[in-house]
This record gives sequence, structure tokens and C-alpha cells, in this order.
Amino acid sequence: MQVVLDVDTGVDDALAILLALRSPAMDVRAITCVAGNADVDQVVANTLRVLDAASAPDIPVARGMTRPLVEPPRPARHVHGEDGMGDLGLPRSQRSPVGIHAVELLRTTLASATEPITLIPLAPLTNIAVLVRTYPELLDRIDRIVLMGGAAAVGNATAAAEFNVWHDPEAAAIVLDSGVPTTMYGLDVFYEPVVPVADVQALVSAADPARQLAGRLMQHQLARFGAATVTLGDAGAVAAVLRPDLLWTARHPVRVELAGTWTRGRTVVDQRPRAIDLDHDELGSGGLVDVALRVDGPALAALFLEVLRTR
Ligand code: BDR
Ligand code: CA
Repeated sequence: MQVVLDVDTGVDDALAILLALRSPAMDVRAITCVAGNADVDQVVANTLRVLDAASAPDIPVARGMTRPLVEPPRPARHVHGEDGMGDLGLPRSQRSPVGIHAVELLRTTLASATEPITLIPLAPLTNIAVLVRTYPELLDRIDRIVLMGGAAAVGNATAAAEFNVWHDPEAAAIVLDSGVPTTMYGLDVFYEPVVPVADVQALVSAADPARQLAGRLMQHQLARFGAATVTLGDAGAVAAVLRPDLLWTARHPVRVELAGTWTRGRTVVDQRPRAIDLDHDELGSGGLVDVALRVDGPALAALFLEVLRTR
């Protein structure tokens, strides 16, 4: 499966990148970076460090949008650390990003793909929205978008909104309305695949730098949240791409709230039965999205640990 990751690395983005790189079933064609958990230059630097830990081949990494379409950037240092990736003191990578913008890397990657691409955005959707508006003719080269973002039920950045959608709601609205088949791996399932502290310790002591990095990143999250388990976070979305049979979705219209005082950035998932009288809904209730509502968390977490053992 040919995939492109769009990231704001990010502790859990790093876990997701490691999983995708280690999976024999995935061919990572490109990684695009966007402002989110950290500023975009830091995201690029973090992403290159992850490639080092995985001894990855020369996969193109590009710097993308430096800020959301409308609002200023609002990094999540309180979750991901000052450097956006757990403040582990990792050395700077000798790798460089490609000399073109992330949206251009998306364009060339889609245009040259030998099969439809699975696009996996794990970050605010700014890069992807600009792609949708700039190169709509390339969208049929995308087999499916599987994005981490939104939720039917809860929020995290605010009571109503999930971080990636809240950070750039206009971008999320553009992407969810793009007509590309889309799976929304949101907060309804995000916290389900977890790794217990004993497995984290085993990763930390591993000789393999990729497993060790995964362990140290998870250790950061354990310390940050004082819990006995740590969520795979964005890596759960990649795991669900590898094993879609472990994810249960329902197709619903979804709209992004772009106005509300307390609800801006909420994904409004219309779960009303279709038979209902929708006459009050003059604007309609949005494009159809496959919303992840249930997941086999233990199986996805086991898959993550197993794939990371693959060399
Ligand atoms: C999302 O927000 C970011 O902090 C994480 O990397 C993840 O993509 C969860 O809401
Ligand atoms: Ca992320």
C-alpha cells in the first residue's frame, strides 16, 4: 500500500511514522509537515530525527504551511514538550527536507504514483486543504483519506473540539467536503489502543533505536499524564489502515462548526436516522464521512508492538 503521511511531529506522530516505516505492508512515499503541535520548522526537525531512529531510506520530507488558514498557530507544548517531541535531547539529523513546499510534494507524489495513494493526515489539515483547493484534478489519485481528527462525542482541545480540527477548522471543513472517500479516526476511538507501562519499559531497554525511541516517547507521555498506560494516539490511525477489520465505522454527514462561541472546531456528526424529517436543515448536514465509532484497542496496540519488532 502506497501511503503519504501528513504530520505535526508530535510524540504520537513520531510513533505513527515509526509504525508506517516498519510495516512491510506500507510503502511511505512522502511525509509532509505542518504547523500544529509545534512550529513547522520544529516539526520538520523532529520528523527527520524519527527517520534517523528508524534507519529509514531517503524518504522525501517537506516543510508545509506555517500557520492555519485563518487563525494564528497554537502549539501544544503542554502535551508534547517544548520541542514538540518529548524534549528527549536527540541530536539534530543530518538529513534535509526537500526544497519544495509540502503541497508541491503532495502534488508530485500524487501525479507520479503508480497506484492510488492512501493519504494519512495526523495533524491540522492546512496542507491538505491547500492541496484540495490548488490541485483538485489530482484528488482522484487518492484512494482514501484516513485522518486523525474530530469526534462524534467529545473534545480535547476544548470541551467541544478535537485539537487537529480546532487548530484549523476552515481547513478541516474543506477536506471533509472534498468528496474524497474519508475515514475520520477521531477521539471516539483515539484513546482505546493503549500500551501498558511494562511494554513501554521493554521498548526503552531495546537495543533497536526505533523501539527505544518509541519507548522514550511513551515514557514522556506516561510522566506527563501520570497514567499506567499510554495511548498509541496517531499511531492508532496508521494501525487501523493496516487492519481496517479492527475498526468499526458508520457513514454519516459531517460538518465542522466554524462559528460557535464554545463549539468552534467541533465536528458535527449527523447520526439522525435518514428517515427523519430534515426540512429544518436548509444547508444540509454535510459530506458523507466514515466515522470510526469503535475499535479493537488491544489488537491494534498488539499490532503496533509486533510491527515494531520487525526489522
Ligand atoms: C491530535 O492532536 C495532537 O496533539 C496529536 O498529535 C493528535 O494528532 C489529538 O487530538
Ligand atoms: Ca498529530
